[in-house]
Amino acid sequence: MSSFSALRDRFEQIETPFYYYDLGLLNQTVDAVNAEIAGYPFHVHYALKANVNKDLLPVIRQAGFGADCVSGNEILRALETGFDPSKIVFAGVGKSDKEIKLGIEKDIFAFNVESLQELQVINDLAKEASKKVSFSLRVNPNVDAGTHEYITTGTRDNKFGITIDELWEALDWIENLENVSFIGLHFHIGSQVTDLTRFKELITKINELQLAVRERNFDLPHLNVGGGLGIDYDDPDKQLVPDFKAYFDLFKENLALFPGQKLHFELGRSIVGQSGSLVSRVLYTKKGEGTTFLIIDAGMTELLRPALYKTPHRIESLSNATEEAIYDVVGPICETTDAFDRKISLPQSERGDLIVIRSAGAYAEVMSSRYNLRDVAPSVFS
Ligand code: LLP
Repeated sequence: MSSFSALRDRFEQIETPFYYYDLGLLNQTVDAVNAEIAGYPFHVHYALKANVNKDLLPVIRQAGFGADCVSGNEILRALETGFDPSKIVFAGVGKSDKEIKLGIEKDIFAFNVESLQELQVINDLAKEASKKVSFSLRVNPNVDAGTHEYITTGTRDNKFGITIDELWEALDWIENLENVSFIGLHFHIGSQVTDLTRFKELITKINELQLAVRERNFDLPHLNVGGGLGIDYDDPDKQLVPDFKAYFDLFKENLALFPGQKLHFELGRSIVGQSGSLVSRVLYTKKGEGTTFLIIDAGMTELLRPALYKTPHRIESLSNATEEAIYDVVGPICETTDAFDRKISLPQSERGDLIVIRSAGAYAEVMSSRYNLRDVAPSVFS
């Protein structure tokens, strides 16, 4: 039985599809993070790209987290929500001049710089504004995150960061830039990382690299290890709050921080992922050859992940039936890829039955589109 059965009566009253956010669970999740980092020089910046819903962000800000932004508009959203500019980092391989100027004007904490050309532009724009801005250099450590190739970011052929060779070549030059100050290294190997040994591999690389950069007389008061901690999409109820203890323990036990050095994290999915679900209704059941389609009123426009990455989310039917049947659960969009999962067993479902798609708190609402001129799905909260 679905853990959402108790919500059936409430959901029946609401027009579908909609996002359902459990703010209680979100609070529990941010508390769990805070419990693990208390007493350590650790700073968590929530990665806004995962979800920018205006009712979720205040919960995250109130937990004391900073913000990791990848666009000027995300910086503006973070500021509107009341995130302190001194806790905002700004990442991204293609920051426009307008966005860089905004970051400079708003006195954000630091830019995560992805190329030396970008660093020169930031320096020039800071000079124009008569300011000196802080930056971390994103280094591509060539560590494979062992996740889906579309969300792997830290291997040699990804567009992100600079190579280690480039870092050595750049250090003398960096020292001469007058309007930027180099505060540390930044890394992010990928997203939905479930094999924690990948982070351990990253830590080993960081330990070596930091020592070598310090030998070149850079202080490195900060270190940013990005985000990427995965969540359980197959069985969300098994671990609604991710295992932050195991994650942070890895850094506590293996990372060689320098005295006084601060460690920054940019977690997105693990903070919001399990707090959201996409709630939908069966429009039609249709028998194909050897397949029964459950055609629901949510589609790839509300949750793109299964279509884009071919990674399913757990689907639950709130039908009362005790018998099960095998279904392909598909959306209404005119694309064959608009399918949530294939050949899955669900309680026999009929037109009008509620279908809940789990783990849709991260990278769902933010990646929605109005393709086919669909209505924008609203959000409902508990
Ligand atoms: N920091 C950087 C530099 C990033 O690129 C990302 C995610 C994060 C932090 C946050 O990572 P998280 O903790 O959420 O894994 N749309 C994809 C995920 C794209 C992730 C992009 N970068 C998905 O639906 O799986």
